[in-house]
Amino acid sequence: MNILLIGSGGREHALAWKMKQSARCSNLYIAPGNAGTSFVGENVAIAADNFPALGKFCIEKEITLVVVGPEAPLVQGIRDYFENTNELKHILLVGPGKTGAQLEGSKDFSKQFMLRHGVPTAKARTFQSHESTQALAYLDQCKPPIVLKADGLAAGKGVIISPTVTEAKQAIYEMLVDKKFGEASSKVLIEEFLDGIELSVFVLTDGENYVVLPEAKDYKRIGDGDTGPNTGGMGAVSPVIFADSGFMKKVETHVIVPTINGLKKDGIAYKGFIFIGLMNIKGEPYVIEYNARMGDPETEAVMTRIDSDLVELFEACAKGELRNKMLQINPQYAVTLIMASGGYPDVFEKGHAISGLTTAGPARVFHAGTSFTENTIVTSGGRVLAITGNGHSLEAAAKQAYETAAKISWKNAYYRKDISQDLARLEKSTGK
Ligand code: AMP
Ligand code: GLY
Repeated sequence: MNILLIGSGGREHALAWKMKQSARCSNLYIAPGNAGTSFVGENVAIAADNFPALGKFCIEKEITLVVVGPEAPLVQGIRDYFENTNELKHILLVGPGKTGAQLEGSKDFSKQFMLRHGVPTAKARTFQSHESTQALAYLDQCKPPIVLKADGLAAGKGVIISPTVTEAKQAIYEMLVDKKFGEASSKVLIEEFLDGIELSVFVLTDGENYVVLPEAKDYKRIGDGDTGPNTGGMGAVSPVIFADSGFMKKVETHVIVPTINGLKKDGIAYKGFIFIGLMNIKGEPYVIEYNARMGDPETEAVMTRIDSDLVELFEACAKGELRNKMLQINPQYAVTLIMASGGYPDVFEKGHAISGLTTAGPARVFHAGTSFTENTIVTSGGRVLAITGNGHSLEAAAKQAYETAAKISWKNAYYRKDISQDLARLEKSTGK
């Protein structure tokens, strides 16, 4: 079948790489894609939110399956657009509709959803712009650190963790009154701080049935030892040692099952990924957030551990036929390292030529922010490459990723030197 994948990051390069291995995949198109995806399929210069142009392309190329990578087109209603357009409604699509995508698009919606369906999460109160006085008064009763969350999508920057009540007051004023994140912060959640170890769990569901993908740990801060500002993610590791089978069983019973049942009870048809950001607090799972898509860079680690045919799974998901589908997961480790532009997540330069790509290996090099200038591959984003090493131990996987990264360079390239080391220490100390 002909497939259209929407998006342009490392996640999409990894999804494209995995889908292309399927015997069911004939032509693979990526809109808009990056330099890396052009080696796997054919890039199409259509923006991820240009639904009419994407629809027209699907008809022209006889696309059977559309897979949506990033959240923006989902929140904007790409599924609804396809379902409500006569010539497009037959096309299979992986990704929830506009209402389901609110699990990610509105933190207030997802919090109310979790409370309504008994999914363990942090306590929170929501305040609107005209309630800033009440919000400030409420903060006086809170114990720091205090978590503030802009309700809407804020490019990964909408969560502020304030160490003191005074700083929280300043921050909430900026969000609610000064509209620091525009409309996204016209509602703000004041949330209890969860103290534990974080991990990402991924579920592919057709709204009735589900498969659980390999879990992963993300490294969000820019600096070694989890220091400095938050980023989109600077690395990922899978499997995660503290997510043993007992913990994952709890995740399934306390989180995944109530989430899928909750969607059904609320009448929300959901066909796509649910990415559950979890905190493990003394062995108990608490949900930090839902996303309506796969994680990035977690996908670049997770895809290398899936042996099943991804296209077959996507087809089953979109048709509502995931029942009895099993996911074959291989036991090897995956360590993904993000090579970023110097200066990211603040100001950084683009357009630097990348050297070493053709000779680098043996780790897999997924492209995240790259493009072509004539025939040269150049940097075009903050996160540039996602390098995934695999191996039968965490150390072996990390070694492969780091050795490969050392062969690639461009002006001011930066990467963390400690991805996976915390888990290696934990592995040693617990003897697992
Ligand atoms: P988000 O933008 O929702 O992904 O949140 C960004 C990060 O903030 C999360 O990955 C967590 O590390 C942190 N975070 C969010 N909510 C909480 C919470 N209630 N307690 C502790 N950390 C949190
Ligand atoms: N790596 C975190 C995310 O994709 O949101």
